[in-house]
Amino acid sequence: MEIKKQIEELVLNAKNEILTIKTMNELNDLKAKYLGKTSPFAQLMSQMKTLSNEEKPLFGQAVNEGKNQIASLFDGFRLELEQKAIEEKLKNEAVDVTLPGVNFSKGSKHLLSKTIEEIEDLFIGMGYSVKEGPEIESDLYNFEMLNLPKGHPARDMQDTFYITEETLLRTHTSPVQVRTMLEAGGKKPIKIICPGKVYRRDDDDLTHSHQFTQIEALVVDEDVTIADLKGTLLVLAQKMFGEERKIRLRPSYFPFTEPSVEVDVSCGQCGGKGCSMCKQTGWIEILGAGMVNNAVLEAAGYDSTKYQGFALGMGIERIAILKHGIDDIRAFYINDLRFNRQFK
Ligand code: DAH
Repeated sequence: MEIKKQIEELVLNAKNEILTIKTMNELNDLKAKYLGKTSPFAQLMSQMKTLSNEEKPLFGQAVNEGKNQIASLFDGFRLELEQKAIEEKLKNEAVDVTLPGVNFSKGSKHLLSKTIEEIEDLFIGMGYSVKEGPEIESDLYNFEMLNLPKGHPARDMQDTFYITEETLLRTHTSPVQVRTMLEAGGKKPIKIICPGKVYRRDDDDLTHSHQFTQIEALVVDEDVTIADLKGTLLVLAQKMFGEERKIRLRPSYFPFTEPSVEVDVSCGQCGGKGCSMCKQTGWIEILGAGMVNNAVLEAAGYDSTKYQGFALGMGIERIAILKHGIDDIRAFYINDLRFNRQFK
């Protein structure tokens, strides 16, 4: 039959043309050419009306079969194209999980911050809260209310940066004691520590820095004794330096405490026998402390017949120096990464 041949030819042509297709657009164009309104099939269908009633069904069936064949060729090829597109995408966006990763260098805490946090954690665990005070302080709080009136010889121990006659860079964290007691209005018990920067007119060298860091502790309550202070100091020394350490209190003098003590910890290098580190004494001085002087309590509004307190003040750099065997205090401030990275 003439029409069958014609359709077979159409299908063959379509097949050959499809094989040259590379994109979806090309596929859509070709599909329109073979199956669209102006396609050869549409033209064949328009000839239907010229045929006899017997011929019509056979003709229609042949045309439809041809159309279906071509349509399924297109469908198959569409799937192939889609698959190819996916494979292409996967290939281009592939991640090689075996490649070495990018190294982001992470920062870490400075040894000073770490030491402060360690001491804070220890005291917070004992029920203390953390207070802060200003670095620009008044002579009144830094000295006078701590029982260091103008002209007092003990002022010489703390060479001071004065800003005006009455304002200065605080020489220690002890003024926070005064501020806290005043805030408490002479009534409430107090249990605080105060970390912060302090300033002295020192020439910088291996052991001195014009700016360094202290932590102050203050406890005020009824029935506070020197035994409480001693117990606290022992916990502090053993947690910071090791459970095997001992402490020793030596009588000392601070205007704001009475009695005052200098606190030594047994030498970790020789265990107390004496070595170069402890200058053959077996002991290393770590901080100053004492029972809050009645004059300081009274000046801040506390009735010293009812309230007592103890206080201590330590240099953080000194604690870290002893703990880690650092030989130059300036290493804390110059930010040499070779130093900082040792304490990650
Ligand atoms: N403020 C003293 C200083 O910087 C350290 C100190 C000693 C603080 C005894 C205290 C204390 O609270 O009781 O030299």
